[in-house]
Amino acid sequence: MQKTITLTVNGVEREAHVDVRDKLLKTLRDELGLTGTKEGCGEGECGSCTVLLDGRPVNSCLVLTVEATGAAITTIEGLEQDGQLHPLQQAFVDEGAIQCGFCTPGMVLSAKALLDRNPDPTEEDVRLGLSGNLCRCTGYTQIVRAVLNVAGECTATAAQPCCEQA
Ligand code: FES
Ligand code: FES
Repeated sequence: MQKTITLTVNGVEREAHVDVRDKLLKTLRDELGLTGTKEGCGEGECGSCTVLLDGRPVNSCLVLTVEATGAAITTIEGLEQDGQLHPLQQAFVDEGAIQCGFCTPGMVLSAKALLDRNPDPTEEDVRLGLSGNLCRCTGYTQIVRAVLNVAGECTATAAQPCCEQA
């Protein structure tokens, strides 16, 4: 059954024409053109499709689009502001934490959710927080270092999320 729904994506209300069985990943990429969200396994195993729903990381390949109505959806496209990369994005670049880049959007969003709830994580906290996101290229060391570098500068609180960016 087809339906027209309204989604709030990166702070903007977007209309989408969806089948009620469509997954959020498909809607974001195919209907709304937000191809920063990547499809890896399609089964909830790799984390490449991670987006934030009300600040919480979810595998968008497992979420029905219609379930996301009413939630604030954040995709990787929503992190840069006024042409400036989010500090986490910049740290990934600076630390060489991006190789093929396929895992990067999901990694960055999971890292943002982690720092928003725990601005001062240990290395173990970071590894645990990113454990749902698989990377086949980097060996994770640079990724963890990038997140810890931002955490060192981060003054986030629950009221004011990571690095003052939504
Ligand atoms: S594509 Fe969604 S978890 Fe792998
Ligand atoms: S950089 Fe290639 S999968 Fe992570």
